[in-house]
Amino acid sequence: MSIRRLTPGERLTTSFPLQAYSFDETPRPADEAESMRDWLPYQEGNRTLVAEADGTAVACASAIPMRQNLRGAVLPMAGVAGLASHPLARRQGHVRDLMHQLLDEMLDEGHVLSALYPFRPSFYERFGYVGLPAPRTATFPPDDLAALLRVKLPGELVWQRTGAGYDEYAAFHDRCLVQRHGFAVLPEYRRIRVRDDDNRWLVTARVDGVTEGLLTYRIDGYGGTLEGGHLLATSPLARALLLQFLARHVDQVERVSVVVAPDDLPELWATDLGVVCETRVTRPDESAPMARVLSMDALAGLPADAGCCRVELTGDRWLAGTYLLDGTTGQLEIRSRASVGAVDPPSATLTAAGLSALAYGALDPAEVVVRGLGDVPTDAMLELRRLFPRELPYLCASF
Ligand SMILES: CC(C)(COP(=O)(O)OP(=O)(O)OC[C@H]1O[C@@H](n2cnc3c(N)ncnc32)[C@H](O)[C@@H]1OP(=O)(O)O)[C@@H](O)C(=O)NCCC(=O)NCCS
Repeated sequence: MSIRRLTPGERLTTSFPLQAYSFDETPRPADEAESMRDWLPYQEGNRTLVAEADGTAVACASAIPMRQNLRGAVLPMAGVAGLASHPLARRQGHVRDLMHQLLDEMLDEGHVLSALYPFRPSFYERFGYVGLPAPRTATFPPDDLAALLRVKLPGELVWQRTGAGYDEYAAFHDRCLVQRHGFAVLPEYRRIRVRDDDNRWLVTARVDGVTEGLLTYRIDGYGGTLEGGHLLATSPLARALLLQFLARHVDQVERVSVVVAPDDLPELWATDLGVVCETRVTRPDESAPMARVLSMDALAGLPADAGCCRVELTGDRWLAGTYLLDGTTGQLEIRSRASVGAVDPPSATLTAAGLSALAYGALDPAEVVVRGLGDVPTDAMLELRRLFPRELPYLCASF
């Protein structure tokens, strides 16, 4: 078995058929493969590896060069997608080998973080990934926002299709990337599909001429549902403007649904608002995202409270080693084993998933222990809480 990187043109006949078998309704008409050619430009910059046996592709895996905010730092992140192996070649270690090489290569190119949507989280926990919160869907009748219609709000709404409004859409996502922990964006060659598909409405809220909120949506018919995407707002005023816009659909649609961040509180948006907030996580297709730290460089310089802990990272291809994590300057400093001996701080042992859970703010150190992702004595827990205060990440991007 050998592993090699595909050229973009080879995808059509090599990785796409494996992925189509794994993720789509099959079998398909024999000539339908050609229709997937339209999808090629959106994969152009991906790194796609295949495992081949006797010249035939038996498994494939791709990484998308993305960017993600980790506690305020925008860092290169490898979005892993399209893992598939041929049904006759499963459970032979092909995907494990592909994952190792894929992440080796992405790290060499500077991707210090990685994220994915798992078919089964325990499969990826062994590769150092940990679960992040899933976004929630808030569903409500637009009538319940009627009171908002009487409020005079400064600012303006702009309504267009996603094709026409793409530049504003992209610029606002880039702004959220800088502002929101966990937020990730796709590379331009992939994101631009939103413009090319042009199949959703885009409403933006501008305050003093600056975009502060955004929602894309579709309506499935008169008396039906206004199905919104992520309701993104960098200010309460912008969110109120968007909700006011949704309220104007009273008597047109029966219900509105929007996707909100895990820490958003729709029940506080308006008095008398009846709202159902739902998080659906099922296997294999409705998954919460997972992420991992691929290099300790990702943590250097992050804001931290004054804590100090020696951490031994075990069983990981990329992070194994002993480090001193020091937050006494207000910024995380990472020192490798050589300088650990000089001080004697509390010590903890963590898996890569355990460290990732703390870095992403997804779990408390006590939960890391309960979940079997580390051995953390009480004194080290106190230090780690100072170094990695709980902060809920919001990935937002789907890939
Ligand atoms: C999931 C899938 C990619 C795994 O591929 P594979 O080539 O069988 O995986 P590997 O043989 O490299 O497995 C690596 C390890 O995970 C284990 N494993 C594989 N599939 C597993 C599963 N469904 N559940 C739990 N463990 C699993 C293997 O036993 C192996 O363990 P080991 O390291 O102790 O030997 C493959 O079954 C597939 O194509 N499924 C359909 C598409 C899909 O779900 N893709 C993933 C999208 S996120």
